[in-house]
Amino acid sequence: MKPRKIKDKIYWMGYVDWDARLFDSLIPLPDGTSYNAFLIEGSKKTVLIDTVESQFAGDLMAQLDNVPKIDYVVSLHAEQDHSGSIPHVLSRYPDAKLITSPKAKGMLMDLLRIPEETFITVSDGENLSLGDKTLEFINTPWVHWPETMVAYLKEDKILFSCDFFGSHIASTELYVNDEARVYEAAKRYYAEIMMPFRNAIKKNMKKIASYDIDIIAPSHGQIYSRPSFIIDAHKEWIEGPPKNLVVLPYISMHNSTKKMVDYFVASLVENGVNVEQFNLTVTDIGKLAIALVDAGTIVIGTPTILAGPHPDVVYGAYLANALRPKANFLSIIGSYGWGGKTVEILAGMIPNLKVEVIEPVLAKGLPSEANFKALENLAETIATKHKELGFK
Ligand SMILES: Cc1cc2nc3c(=O)[nH]c(=O)nc-3n(C[C@H](O)[C@H](O)[C@H](O)COP(=O)(O)O)c2cc1C
Ligand SMILES: [Fe+2]
Ligand SMILES: [Fe+2]
Repeated sequence: MKPRKIKDKIYWMGYVDWDARLFDSLIPLPDGTSYNAFLIEGSKKTVLIDTVESQFAGDLMAQLDNVPKIDYVVSLHAEQDHSGSIPHVLSRYPDAKLITSPKAKGMLMDLLRIPEETFITVSDGENLSLGDKTLEFINTPWVHWPETMVAYLKEDKILFSCDFFGSHIASTELYVNDEARVYEAAKRYYAEIMMPFRNAIKKNMKKIASYDIDIIAPSHGQIYSRPSFIIDAHKEWIEGPPKNLVVLPYISMHNSTKKMVDYFVASLVENGVNVEQFNLTVTDIGKLAIALVDAGTIVIGTPTILAGPHPDVVYGAYLANALRPKANFLSIIGSYGWGGKTVEILAGMIPNLKVEVIEPVLAKGLPSEANFKALENLAETIATKHKELGFK
C-alpha cells in the first residue's frame, strides 16, 4: 500500500495485514489487523509517529522512499508491533531523534537495544513544535502497557492514540464507515487488551475529554472521523453496569455436563436471563472475552478429570481471572465420577474476580432429578440477584 493522505501534510503509512489470525500468539484475529504509522510534515520538522512489526519494515521503508528527512520518530508505545521497525528507520535517518515517555525509553533500550543517545524523553503535556504544527504528548498509562502515551496534533485536532481505541481490522477503507462492524472488532480488542486496566483507562478517558478532537487515528485498524462513536463505546464498556447476562464457558466429555448446561440455560431463559454459552473445545476465545465485558454472572461448566477441572476450563478460568471482567456473581456446574477437587481448584483460580460465589451444582454421573432442581434454583437465584441490582 502507498502512503495515504489524511489531511494536508499528514499521511497514513504502515502495513495492512490481511493474513494475521493470531495476535500476541494468543488472540484470534478473524478480520486481520493493520499496523498504522503516521507521517507529519511540519514547515520546519518532519515526524514519523510509530512504525510497524519488524517483519513488515520493508513495506514502511518503501513508503518512506520519497521522504528525504525525518527529524523525529515518536514511539507512543514500546510494544514491538509498533516499535519493531524503529531500528530500520533510524538506520536510514541516522540524525533522527526518538521521542518517547521516560518509561518507554528504558523499555525500548531493553526490547530493541536502541542506543541511549538517540532518545529525547517528553513529559506529560509537553509540546513539540514542527513549525506550523504542534504535537502535544499526553501520558496515558496502561493503553496498553505502563509506558504508553498519545499525541495530539493541535492545529488539525487529530489524536494519535496508538493501541488506545484500536481495532483489529484489515481494510482498504482508511476511515470507519461501517460502525457496527468496527464496534464488534473494537470490543474484542478492548476485552482482550484493555479490560484488565479499565480503571486506568477511565482516568485516561477523563484526561482526553478536555481536548477538541476531530479525528482519532489509532495504530491498529481504521481512523475515526466521528470520535464520539468509539469514545462512547469505551465509556459503556468501562463504566456501564453489567448486563442481565450469564456467560457460560464449559466443556463436556461424555455429555453429562452438557445435559446440565442445556437444562440450566433453559431455566435461565425461563427466568428472563440472557445467556451466552461457549463450548471451549470449539469457541473463539475472543467471543468469550467480548461476552465477559457485559456479563452479570459467570457460570463455569466442567466435568472432573484427573481430580480437577478439565484443562481447557482451567485455561478459560485463568483467562477470565486475568481479564478481570466486572461480573458480580459466579458459580460452577458439572459432573464427576467418583470425587475430586474441581470446585476448590476453580475457586482458587479466580482471586481477581470481585464476585459473590453462588453454591455450585455438581452431579455424580448423569444429572439426577435433584440436580436438575438445583439447577433451576441456581437460575432463579441468579435472576433474582440480577433484578435486585437492576441489570438490564
Ligand atoms: C480422562 C478422565 C479422567 C477422569 N478423572 C476423574 C476424576 O479424577 N474424578 C472424578 O470424579 N471423575 C473423573 N472422571 C469421570 C468424569 O468426571 C465423569 O465421567 C463425568 O460424568 C464426565 O462428565 P461429562 O459427561 O460432562 O464429560 C474422569 C473421566 C475421564 C474421561
Ligand atoms: Fe500494545
Ligand atoms: Fe498494538
